[in-house]
Amino acid sequence: SEPLRLGIAGLGTVGIGVVKIVQTHGDLLAARFGRPVEITAVSARSRGRNRGADISAYAWEDDPVALARRADVDIVVELMGGEDGPALALTRAAIAAGKDVVTANKAMLAIHGQGLAEEAEAAGVALRFEAAVAGGIPVIKALTEGLAGNRITRVMGVMNGTCNYILTRMEDAGLPYDTVFDEAAQLGYLEADPNLDVGGIDAAHKLTLLTAIAFGTRPVFSAIDIEGIQRISIDDIRHAADLGLRIKLLGVARMTGRGLEQSMSPCLVPADSPLGQLKGGTNMVVIEGDSVGQIVLRGPGAGEGPTASAVMADVADLARGLRIAPFGQPAATLEHVAAARATAAKPF
Ligand code: HSE
Repeated sequence: SEPLRLGIAGLGTVGIGVVKIVQTHGDLLAARFGRPVEITAVSARSRGRNRGADISAYAWEDDPVALARRADVDIVVELMGGEDGPALALTRAAIAAGKDVVTANKAMLAIHGQGLAEEAEAAGVALRFEAAVAGGIPVIKALTEGLAGNRITRVMGVMNGTCNYILTRMEDAGLPYDTVFDEAAQLGYLEADPNLDVGGIDAAHKLTLLTAIAFGTRPVFSAIDIEGIQRISIDDIRHAADLGLRIKLLGVARMTGRGLEQSMSPCLVPADSPLGQLKGGTNMVVIEGDSVGQIVLRGPGAGEGPTASAVMADVADLARGLRIAPFGQPAATLEHVAAARATAAKPF
């Protein structure tokens, strides 16, 4: 049968992870999808760099937009990142060229997701982004497929591994915020703009997407009340511990009588709860539905293998012909309201 042909834009950590999966699991994927998966073309900033994977068999495009328009590409895999700029230009070009798009770009989708979703629906192409939220945890699939029979009442969790690393390291080693921040920088955990992590913005981008999917609303980043972890002191952490509590940067979206409330802020959780026990760079998402009750998903929120694993989940759906509207249906039906500060305090 006809191969499914991928064009990959962006050969950083995640892009190379996808290349490795396609190269090592060719037989497995072909058997599962009923057709082979191939990479036909790639695009990245520098061609010569040694990336730890052989990309010499793929056509090279200097210009990602040219990659999006190639006749031998069925799915454009956008792994460049960035809220707008080349990633947005590429995504728009791909949709306009009638290509399905798979992306890990949470910032772009949180800000431009509604417009892109409308463009994709009008063009009859898919826009998929499992890898944009909580890395290797298949949380979008859980909401759109596994929990499709539920009315979702609350979604919450730890969606930024770097902040969770910083908070748990402060707690375990008794070190001040600035010292642990420097450590995280040394370890390469921080985004190029660290404020995206410690300011809660990266996590809020992810919550924006989860909320839209869980509650069938438009993704509205500006509706989230955001506070980062920069002002958490070692004393805050000690006082919390004295009370049997831990501090987590927690995203919460819940349906209230007034509408949909969303917040991303440092919250106190019981030390012995699943959220309280979450250590290091791990993510956790708690979902509550009217039929299922509560489920907890935990796993790696970043990194080559986990994020590439999530990209392939979307490729799998498209290979099998499964096409779901990006933010579910019905879209744009709910009002976003400002979160009351105090309500996020005791979630779990
Ligand atoms: N900076 C992000 C995190 C990377 O720490 O979770 C994954 O989106």
